[in-house]
Amino acid sequence: QKEIISLAEITQFRSAAEEFSPFEWYKHKLEQEPISYNEATNSWNVFRYDDVKRVLSDHEYFSSVRTRTTISVGADNEEGQHASGRINLNSDPPEHRKSHSLLSAAFTPRSLKLWEPRIHEVVRQLIQDMGDEPVIDIVPAFSGALPTIVIADLLGVPSEDRFLFKTWVDHLFLPLPKENVEDIQDLKRQAAKNYYSYLYPHVVHKRTNLADDIISDLIQAEVDGERLTDDEIVRMTMFILGAGIETTSHLLACTFYSFLYDDERIYAEVQSNRELLPNTVEEMLRYRFHVAKMDRTVKTDNDVLGVPLKKGDVVIAWMSAANMDKEVFEDPFTLNIHRPNNKKHLTFGSGPHFCLGAPLARLEANIGLGLFMDHFRRIEPVPGFKLEEHLTPSAAGQTLASLPVRVHRW
Ligand code: HEM
Repeated sequence: QKEIISLAEITQFRSAAEEFSPFEWYKHKLEQEPISYNEATNSWNVFRYDDVKRVLSDHEYFSSVRTRTTISVGADNEEGQHASGRINLNSDPPEHRKSHSLLSAAFTPRSLKLWEPRIHEVVRQLIQDMGDEPVIDIVPAFSGALPTIVIADLLGVPSEDRFLFKTWVDHLFLPLPKENVEDIQDLKRQAAKNYYSYLYPHVVHKRTNLADDIISDLIQAEVDGERLTDDEIVRMTMFILGAGIETTSHLLACTFYSFLYDDERIYAEVQSNRELLPNTVEEMLRYRFHVAKMDRTVKTDNDVLGVPLKKGDVVIAWMSAANMDKEVFEDPFTLNIHRPNNKKHLTFGSGPHFCLGAPLARLEANIGLGLFMDHFRRIEPVPGFKLEEHLTPSAAGQTLASLPVRVHRW
Protein backbone atom coordinates (compact mmCIF):
# COMPACT_ATOMS: atom_id res chain seq x y z
CA GLN A 1 0.00 0.00 0.00
CA LYS A 2 1.32 3.43 -0.98
CA GLU A 3 1.83 6.25 1.45
CA ILE A 4 -0.91 8.84 0.99
CA ILE A 5 0.07 12.50 0.93
CA SER A 6 -2.45 14.72 2.68
CA LEU A 7 -3.45 17.62 0.42
CA ALA A 8 -5.02 19.46 3.33
CA GLU A 9 -1.54 20.08 4.72
CA ILE A 10 -0.59 21.78 1.48
CA THR A 11 -3.71 23.81 0.79
CA GLN A 12 -4.73 24.64 4.37
CA PHE A 13 -8.12 25.85 3.20
CA ARG A 14 -10.07 27.38 6.04
CA SER A 15 -13.46 26.06 4.96
CA ALA A 16 -15.10 23.57 2.62
CA ALA A 17 -16.49 26.51 0.63
CA GLU A 18 -13.01 27.90 0.09
CA GLU A 19 -11.84 24.51 -1.15
CA PHE A 20 -14.82 24.35 -3.49
CA SER A 21 -13.83 27.70 -5.08
CA PRO A 22 -10.11 28.13 -4.39
CA PHE A 23 -9.57 31.03 -6.80
CA GLU A 24 -7.74 33.22 -4.29
CA TRP A 25 -5.39 30.40 -3.42
CA TYR A 26 -4.58 29.73 -7.08
CA LYS A 27 -4.02 33.42 -7.70
CA HIS A 28 -1.64 33.66 -4.79
CA LYS A 29 0.26 30.55 -5.86
CA LEU A 30 0.46 31.53 -9.53
CA GLU A 31 1.79 34.97 -8.69
CA GLN A 32 3.83 34.42 -5.53
CA GLU A 33 4.87 30.79 -5.28
CA PRO A 34 4.54 29.17 -8.71
CA ILE A 35 6.91 26.38 -7.67
CA SER A 36 7.07 25.74 -3.98
CA TYR A 37 8.31 23.08 -1.65
CA ASN A 38 5.93 21.98 1.09
CA GLU A 39 7.80 20.78 4.13
CA ALA A 40 4.93 19.12 5.99
CA THR A 41 4.31 16.67 3.14
CA ASN A 42 7.80 16.72 1.64
CA SER A 43 6.43 17.55 -1.80
CA TRP A 44 7.04 20.07 -4.58
CA ASN A 45 3.98 21.87 -5.90
CA VAL A 46 3.76 23.48 -9.33
CA PHE A 47 1.01 25.77 -10.54
CA ARG A 48 1.86 27.51 -13.82
CA TYR A 49 0.54 26.14 -17.10
CA ASP A 50 3.85 25.29 -18.80
CA ASP A 51 5.28 23.67 -15.66
CA VAL A 52 2.14 21.63 -14.97
CA LYS A 53 2.06 20.44 -18.57
CA ARG A 54 5.73 19.49 -18.42
CA VAL A 55 5.33 17.52 -15.18
CA LEU A 56 2.32 15.64 -16.53
CA SER A 57 3.80 14.80 -19.90
CA ASP A 58 7.61 14.59 -19.58
CA HIS A 59 7.99 11.00 -18.44
CA GLU A 60 11.78 11.09 -18.85
CA TYR A 61 11.96 13.20 -15.70
CA PHE A 62 8.57 12.73 -14.04
CA SER A 63 7.42 9.17 -13.46
CA SER A 64 3.99 7.68 -12.80
CA VAL A 65 5.60 4.87 -10.80
CA ARG A 66 4.95 5.97 -7.25
CA THR A 67 5.52 4.98 -3.67
CA ARG A 68 3.94 8.16 -2.26
CA THR A 69 0.86 9.67 -3.86
CA THR A 70 -2.14 11.95 -3.40
CA ILE A 71 -4.50 9.38 -4.94
CA SER A 72 -6.35 6.91 -2.72
CA VAL A 73 -8.72 4.67 -4.63
CA GLY A 74 -9.64 1.03 -4.40
CA ALA A 75 -9.14 -0.97 -1.22
CA ASP A 76 -6.20 -2.61 0.50
CA ASN A 77 -7.36 -6.23 0.19
CA GLU A 78 -6.66 -8.62 -2.69
CA GLU A 79 -9.92 -7.80 -4.53
CA GLY A 80 -9.42 -4.07 -4.14
CA GLN A 81 -6.19 -3.78 -6.14
CA HIS A 82 -6.86 -2.63 -9.64
CA ALA A 83 -3.59 -3.45 -11.27
CA SER A 84 -2.20 -6.94 -11.60
CA GLY A 85 1.04 -8.06 -13.17
CA ARG A 86 1.00 -7.08 -16.82
CA ILE A 87 -1.59 -4.33 -16.58
CA ASN A 88 -0.47 -1.22 -14.88
CA LEU A 89 -1.32 2.33 -15.85
CA ASN A 90 0.86 3.63 -13.04
CA SER A 91 3.84 3.14 -15.30
CA ASP A 92 5.86 5.08 -17.89
CA PRO A 93 6.37 4.61 -21.60
CA PRO A 94 7.34 2.28 -23.18
CA GLU A 95 5.86 -0.10 -20.58
CA HIS A 96 2.76 2.06 -20.19
CA ARG A 97 1.93 1.80 -23.89
CA LYS A 98 0.58 -1.75 -23.69
CA SER A 99 -1.81 -1.12 -20.78
CA HIS A 100 -2.97 2.14 -22.32
CA SER A 101 -3.59 0.53 -25.73
CA LEU A 102 -5.43 -2.44 -24.25
CA LEU A 103 -7.71 -0.15 -22.34
CA SER A 104 -8.19 2.28 -25.22
CA ALA A 105 -9.85 -0.58 -27.15
CA ALA A 106 -12.87 0.13 -24.98
CA PHE A 107 -13.03 3.81 -25.90
CA THR A 108 -12.83 3.90 -29.68
CA PRO A 109 -14.83 6.47 -31.67
CA ARG A 110 -16.87 3.55 -32.99
CA SER A 111 -17.86 2.57 -29.44
CA LEU A 112 -18.81 6.14 -28.65
CA LYS A 113 -21.15 6.26 -31.64
CA LEU A 114 -22.82 3.07 -30.45
CA TRP A 115 -23.17 4.36 -26.91
CA GLU A 116 -24.72 7.69 -27.86
CA PRO A 117 -28.32 6.43 -28.08
CA ARG A 118 -27.85 4.51 -24.83
CA ILE A 119 -26.72 7.63 -23.00
CA HIS A 120 -29.77 9.42 -24.43
CA GLU A 121 -31.96 6.66 -23.04
CA VAL A 122 -30.41 6.85 -19.57
CA VAL A 123 -30.87 10.63 -19.46
CA ARG A 124 -34.46 10.41 -20.69
CA GLN A 125 -35.25 7.91 -17.95
CA LEU A 126 -33.68 10.08 -15.25
CA ILE A 127 -35.69 13.11 -16.42
CA GLN A 128 -38.87 11.07 -16.53
CA ASP A 129 -38.23 9.90 -12.95
CA MET A 130 -38.16 13.55 -11.84
CA GLY A 131 -41.93 13.62 -12.48
CA ASP A 132 -43.39 17.09 -11.98
CA GLU A 133 -41.60 18.06 -8.81
CA PRO A 134 -41.01 21.83 -8.64
CA VAL A 135 -37.70 21.42 -6.80
CA ILE A 136 -35.19 18.72 -7.71
CA ASP A 137 -32.09 17.64 -5.87
CA ILE A 138 -29.88 17.52 -8.92
CA VAL A 139 -27.14 15.34 -7.39
CA PRO A 140 -29.00 12.08 -6.64
CA ALA A 141 -31.50 12.69 -9.44
CA PHE A 142 -29.06 13.56 -12.18
CA SER A 143 -25.40 14.47 -11.83
CA GLY A 144 -24.50 11.55 -9.55
CA ALA A 145 -26.80 9.02 -11.14
CA LEU A 146 -25.97 9.63 -14.80
CA PRO A 147 -22.28 8.59 -14.89
CA THR A 148 -22.87 5.57 -12.63
CA ILE A 149 -25.76 4.24 -14.69
CA VAL A 150 -23.98 4.96 -17.97
CA ILE A 151 -20.90 3.00 -16.87
CA ALA A 152 -23.00 0.17 -15.43
CA ASP A 153 -24.80 0.02 -18.77
CA LEU A 154 -21.56 0.17 -20.78
CA LEU A 155 -20.14 -2.64 -18.66
CA GLY A 156 -23.24 -4.66 -19.44
CA VAL A 157 -24.54 -4.80 -15.84
CA PRO A 158 -28.26 -5.70 -15.94
CA SER A 159 -30.48 -2.80 -14.88
CA GLU A 160 -31.94 -4.67 -11.89
CA ASP A 161 -28.43 -4.83 -10.38
CA ARG A 162 -27.65 -1.14 -10.79
CA PHE A 163 -28.60 -0.24 -7.26
CA LEU A 164 -26.23 -2.84 -5.82
CA PHE A 165 -23.59 -1.67 -8.21
CA LYS A 166 -24.00 1.96 -7.19
CA THR A 167 -23.62 1.12 -3.50
CA TRP A 168 -20.35 -0.73 -4.10
CA VAL A 169 -19.01 2.08 -6.22
CA ASP A 170 -19.98 4.67 -3.61
CA HIS A 171 -18.14 2.69 -0.93
CA LEU A 172 -15.09 1.91 -3.05
CA PHE A 173 -14.41 5.57 -3.68
CA LEU A 174 -15.10 7.02 -0.27
CA PRO A 175 -12.20 9.28 0.65
CA LEU A 176 -10.12 8.19 3.62
CA PRO A 177 -10.79 10.55 6.51
CA LYS A 178 -8.37 11.29 9.34
CA GLU A 179 -10.65 9.65 11.93
CA ASN A 180 -12.33 6.21 11.78
CA VAL A 181 -10.05 5.14 8.94
CA GLU A 182 -10.48 1.46 9.84
CA ASP A 183 -14.28 1.59 9.53
CA ILE A 184 -14.03 3.14 6.08
CA GLN A 185 -11.32 0.65 5.07
CA ASP A 186 -13.66 -2.17 6.14
CA LEU A 187 -16.48 -0.79 4.01
CA LYS A 188 -14.11 -0.49 1.07
CA ARG A 189 -12.78 -4.04 1.49
CA GLN A 190 -16.29 -5.43 1.67
CA ALA A 191 -17.36 -3.45 -1.40
CA ALA A 192 -14.28 -4.63 -3.33
CA LYS A 193 -15.05 -8.24 -2.40
CA ASN A 194 -18.70 -7.94 -3.42
CA TYR A 195 -17.83 -6.14 -6.63
CA TYR A 196 -15.20 -8.70 -7.58
CA SER A 197 -17.40 -11.71 -6.91
CA TYR A 198 -20.27 -10.09 -8.81
CA LEU A 199 -18.28 -9.09 -11.86
CA TYR A 200 -16.00 -12.10 -12.30
CA PRO A 201 -18.71 -14.58 -13.42
CA HIS A 202 -20.20 -11.77 -15.50
CA VAL A 203 -16.91 -11.47 -17.45
CA VAL A 204 -16.67 -15.25 -17.86
CA HIS A 205 -20.22 -15.28 -19.24
CA LYS A 206 -19.42 -12.42 -21.64
CA ARG A 207 -16.60 -14.39 -23.25
CA THR A 208 -19.15 -16.51 -25.04
CA ASN A 209 -21.82 -13.80 -25.27
CA LEU A 210 -20.02 -10.81 -26.77
CA ALA A 211 -22.01 -7.61 -27.17
CA ASP A 212 -21.41 -3.88 -27.68
CA ASP A 213 -20.03 -3.07 -24.28
CA ILE A 214 -16.76 -2.27 -22.53
CA ILE A 215 -16.21 -5.78 -21.18
CA SER A 216 -16.67 -7.33 -24.62
CA ASP A 217 -14.23 -4.79 -26.07
CA LEU A 218 -11.69 -5.62 -23.39
CA ILE A 219 -12.14 -9.35 -24.01
CA GLN A 220 -11.30 -8.83 -27.68
CA ALA A 221 -8.51 -6.28 -27.19
CA GLU A 222 -5.09 -7.49 -28.26
CA VAL A 223 -1.66 -5.90 -28.07
CA ASP A 224 1.48 -7.67 -29.31
CA GLY A 225 -0.52 -10.90 -29.52
CA GLU A 226 -1.52 -10.66 -25.87
CA ARG A 227 -5.02 -10.65 -24.47
CA LEU A 228 -6.44 -9.83 -21.06
CA THR A 229 -7.43 -12.50 -18.55
CA ASP A 230 -10.78 -12.46 -16.72
CA ASP A 231 -9.04 -11.32 -13.55
CA GLU A 232 -7.32 -8.47 -15.37
CA ILE A 233 -10.59 -7.36 -16.94
CA VAL A 234 -12.40 -7.24 -13.59
CA ARG A 235 -9.59 -5.10 -12.18
CA MET A 236 -9.56 -2.90 -15.26
CA THR A 237 -13.25 -2.16 -14.85
CA MET A 238 -12.62 -1.17 -11.26
CA PHE A 239 -10.04 1.30 -12.49
CA ILE A 240 -12.49 2.64 -15.05
CA LEU A 241 -15.10 3.16 -12.34
CA GLY A 242 -12.61 5.03 -10.21
CA ALA A 243 -11.55 7.24 -13.07
CA GLY A 244 -14.91 7.82 -14.65
CA ILE A 245 -17.70 8.18 -12.11
CA GLU A 246 -16.81 10.72 -9.45
CA THR A 247 -15.08 12.93 -11.97
CA THR A 248 -18.04 13.15 -14.33
CA SER A 249 -20.51 13.52 -11.43
CA HIS A 250 -18.43 16.37 -10.09
CA LEU A 251 -18.34 18.07 -13.49
CA LEU A 252 -22.12 17.88 -13.88
CA ALA A 253 -22.93 19.00 -10.34
CA CYS A 254 -20.50 21.92 -10.59
CA THR A 255 -22.01 22.93 -13.92
CA PHE A 256 -25.43 23.28 -12.32
CA TYR A 257 -23.88 25.16 -9.43
CA SER A 258 -22.29 27.54 -11.93
CA PHE A 259 -25.60 28.03 -13.78
CA LEU A 260 -27.26 28.95 -10.48
CA TYR A 261 -24.59 30.86 -8.58
CA ASP A 262 -21.59 31.84 -10.74
CA ASP A 263 -23.46 33.41 -13.65
CA GLU A 264 -27.22 32.98 -13.90
CA ARG A 265 -27.32 34.25 -17.50
CA ILE A 266 -25.59 31.21 -18.95
CA TYR A 267 -28.50 28.76 -18.78
CA ALA A 268 -30.78 31.10 -20.72
CA GLU A 269 -28.11 31.89 -23.26
CA VAL A 270 -27.27 28.27 -23.98
CA GLN A 271 -30.96 27.36 -23.88
CA SER A 272 -31.55 29.69 -26.83
CA ASN A 273 -28.35 28.78 -28.66
CA ARG A 274 -27.44 25.13 -28.21
CA GLU A 275 -24.36 25.46 -30.37
CA LEU A 276 -22.76 27.04 -27.31
CA LEU A 277 -23.11 23.87 -25.27
CA PRO A 278 -19.82 22.09 -26.14
CA ASN A 279 -17.80 25.21 -25.39
CA THR A 280 -19.77 25.73 -22.19
CA VAL A 281 -18.78 22.24 -21.04
CA GLU A 282 -15.11 23.02 -21.79
CA GLU A 283 -15.30 26.25 -19.84
CA MET A 284 -16.80 24.37 -16.89
CA LEU A 285 -13.89 21.92 -17.03
CA ARG A 286 -11.50 24.86 -17.05
CA TYR A 287 -13.17 27.10 -14.51
CA ARG A 288 -15.20 24.92 -12.15
CA PHE A 289 -13.36 21.63 -11.83
CA HIS A 290 -11.47 21.87 -8.51
CA VAL A 291 -9.22 20.57 -7.05
CA ALA A 292 -7.65 18.87 -10.11
CA LYS A 293 -4.09 17.78 -9.42
CA MET A 294 -1.91 14.82 -10.28
CA ASP A 295 1.40 13.71 -8.82
CA ARG A 296 4.58 12.34 -10.34
CA THR A 297 7.84 11.10 -8.85
CA VAL A 298 11.16 12.56 -9.98
CA LYS A 299 13.04 9.93 -11.98
CA THR A 300 16.52 11.48 -12.02
CA ASP A 301 18.02 14.57 -10.39
CA ASN A 302 17.22 17.56 -12.60
CA ASP A 303 16.49 21.27 -12.64
CA VAL A 304 14.19 21.45 -15.67
CA LEU A 305 11.72 23.49 -13.63
CA GLY A 306 14.43 25.83 -12.37
CA VAL A 307 14.62 24.27 -8.91
CA PRO A 308 16.89 21.42 -7.80
CA LEU A 309 14.72 18.29 -7.94
CA LYS A 310 16.13 15.08 -6.52
CA LYS A 311 15.38 11.52 -7.60
CA GLY A 312 12.40 10.26 -5.57
CA ASP A 313 10.94 13.71 -4.86
CA VAL A 314 7.17 13.94 -5.30
CA VAL A 315 5.94 16.74 -7.56
CA ILE A 316 2.26 17.70 -7.50
CA ALA A 317 0.97 19.37 -10.66
CA TRP A 318 -2.07 21.55 -9.96
CA MET A 319 -4.09 21.45 -13.17
CA SER A 320 -6.92 23.62 -11.97
CA ALA A 321 -4.44 26.36 -11.02
CA ALA A 322 -2.77 26.06 -14.44
CA ASN A 323 -6.22 26.56 -15.95
CA MET A 324 -6.15 30.04 -14.37
CA ASP A 325 -2.74 31.03 -15.76
CA LYS A 326 -3.05 34.44 -17.41
CA GLU A 327 -0.22 33.61 -19.83
CA VAL A 328 -2.59 31.16 -21.53
CA PHE A 329 -6.13 32.27 -20.64
CA GLU A 330 -7.08 35.92 -20.94
CA ASP A 331 -8.88 37.27 -17.90
CA PRO A 332 -8.61 33.77 -16.39
CA PHE A 333 -10.77 34.26 -13.30
CA THR A 334 -13.80 35.14 -15.41
CA LEU A 335 -16.21 32.42 -16.44
CA ASN A 336 -16.60 32.92 -20.19
CA ILE A 337 -18.43 30.31 -22.26
CA HIS A 338 -17.29 32.11 -25.45
CA ARG A 339 -13.61 31.75 -24.63
CA PRO A 340 -11.97 30.60 -27.87
CA ASN A 341 -9.13 28.52 -26.39
CA ASN A 342 -10.70 26.97 -23.31
CA LYS A 343 -10.12 23.46 -24.70
CA LYS A 344 -6.48 23.97 -23.74
CA HIS A 345 -7.43 23.35 -20.10
CA LEU A 346 -5.41 20.62 -18.39
CA THR A 347 -8.30 19.06 -16.45
CA PHE A 348 -7.99 15.81 -18.45
CA GLY A 349 -4.20 15.80 -18.05
CA SER A 350 -1.60 15.94 -20.80
CA GLY A 351 0.81 13.56 -22.53
CA PRO A 352 0.82 9.74 -22.47
CA HIS A 353 -1.67 9.46 -19.60
CA PHE A 354 -4.19 11.87 -21.11
CA CYS A 355 -7.65 10.81 -19.98
CA LEU A 356 -8.98 7.92 -22.05
CA GLY A 357 -12.51 8.71 -20.95
CA ALA A 358 -12.47 12.37 -22.01
CA PRO A 359 -14.64 11.78 -25.10
CA LEU A 360 -17.13 9.80 -22.98
CA ALA A 361 -17.22 12.46 -20.23
CA ARG A 362 -17.78 15.17 -22.86
CA LEU A 363 -20.50 13.12 -24.51
CA GLU A 364 -22.31 12.50 -21.21
CA ALA A 365 -22.15 16.17 -20.30
CA ASN A 366 -23.35 17.39 -23.70
CA ILE A 367 -26.17 14.88 -24.04
CA GLY A 368 -27.15 15.22 -20.38
CA LEU A 369 -27.29 19.01 -20.34
CA GLY A 370 -28.88 19.23 -23.80
CA LEU A 371 -31.76 16.90 -22.92
CA PHE A 372 -32.16 18.62 -19.56
CA MET A 373 -32.61 21.93 -21.36
CA ASP A 374 -35.09 20.35 -23.77
CA HIS A 375 -37.22 19.52 -20.76
CA PHE A 376 -36.58 22.42 -18.40
CA ARG A 377 -37.05 25.91 -19.79
CA ARG A 378 -35.52 27.70 -16.85
CA ILE A 379 -33.85 26.90 -13.52
CA GLU A 380 -33.56 28.98 -10.35
CA PRO A 381 -31.76 28.80 -7.03
CA VAL A 382 -33.76 27.81 -3.97
CA PRO A 383 -33.97 30.61 -1.39
CA GLY A 384 -31.79 30.16 1.69
CA PHE A 385 -29.26 27.85 0.01
CA LYS A 386 -26.10 27.61 2.11
CA LEU A 387 -23.21 26.09 0.17
CA GLU A 388 -21.38 24.78 3.25
CA GLU A 389 -24.32 22.54 4.13
CA HIS A 390 -24.22 20.82 0.75
CA LEU A 391 -20.53 20.05 0.41
CA THR A 392 -18.80 16.78 1.12
CA PRO A 393 -15.19 15.65 0.74
CA SER A 394 -14.51 13.31 -2.16
CA ALA A 395 -11.56 12.02 -4.15
CA ALA A 396 -12.01 15.16 -6.29
CA GLY A 397 -11.81 17.51 -3.29
CA GLN A 398 -14.98 19.19 -2.03
CA THR A 399 -17.96 18.22 -4.09
CA LEU A 400 -21.72 18.74 -3.86
CA ALA A 401 -23.60 16.03 -1.95
CA SER A 402 -26.86 17.75 -2.83
CA LEU A 403 -27.99 20.74 -4.85
CA PRO A 404 -31.66 21.73 -4.81
CA VAL A 405 -32.82 23.42 -8.01
CA ARG A 406 -36.19 25.02 -8.73
CA VAL A 407 -37.21 23.97 -12.24
CA HIS A 408 -39.66 25.37 -14.79
CA ARG A 409 -40.88 23.05 -17.50
CA TRP A 410 -41.92 24.19 -20.96
C1 HEM B 1 -6.75 9.49 -16.87
C2 HEM B 1 -9.41 13.35 -15.54
C3 HEM B 1 -13.47 11.05 -16.91
C4 HEM B 1 -10.88 7.04 -17.67
C5 HEM B 1 -7.12 10.76 -16.46
C6 HEM B 1 -6.20 11.81 -16.09
C7 HEM B 1 -6.94 12.87 -15.69
C8 HEM B 1 -8.35 12.52 -15.83
C9 HEM B 1 -6.42 14.19 -15.18
C10 HEM B 1 -4.67 11.75 -16.20
C11 HEM B 1 -4.00 11.07 -15.05
C12 HEM B 1 -2.50 11.21 -15.08
O1 HEM B 1 -1.94 12.08 -15.76
O2 HEM B 1 -1.84 10.43 -14.38
C13 HEM B 1 -10.74 13.06 -15.81
C14 HEM B 1 -11.83 14.00 -15.66
C15 HEM B 1 -12.98 13.37 -16.06
C16 HEM B 1 -12.59 12.01 -16.45
C17 HEM B 1 -11.68 15.44 -15.18
C18 HEM B 1 -14.41 13.85 -16.13
C19 HEM B 1 -14.80 15.08 -16.07
C20 HEM B 1 -13.13 9.77 -17.24
C21 HEM B 1 -14.04 8.75 -17.69
C22 HEM B 1 -13.31 7.61 -17.85
C23 HEM B 1 -11.93 7.93 -17.56
C24 HEM B 1 -15.54 8.96 -17.90
C25 HEM B 1 -13.75 6.25 -18.27
C26 HEM B 1 -14.95 5.78 -18.22
C27 HEM B 1 -9.54 7.38 -17.52
C28 HEM B 1 -8.47 6.42 -17.68
C29 HEM B 1 -7.27 7.13 -17.45
C30 HEM B 1 -7.66 8.49 -17.15
C31 HEM B 1 -8.61 4.94 -18.03
C32 HEM B 1 -5.84 6.56 -17.43
C33 HEM B 1 -5.07 6.82 -18.68
C34 HEM B 1 -3.61 6.41 -18.51
O3 HEM B 1 -3.05 6.47 -17.40
O4 HEM B 1 -3.03 6.01 -19.52
N1 HEM B 1 -8.43 11.22 -16.31
N2 HEM B 1 -11.24 11.88 -16.27
N3 HEM B 1 -11.85 9.25 -17.19
N4 HEM B 1 -9.04 8.61 -17.21
FE1 HEM B 1 -10.13 10.27 -16.84
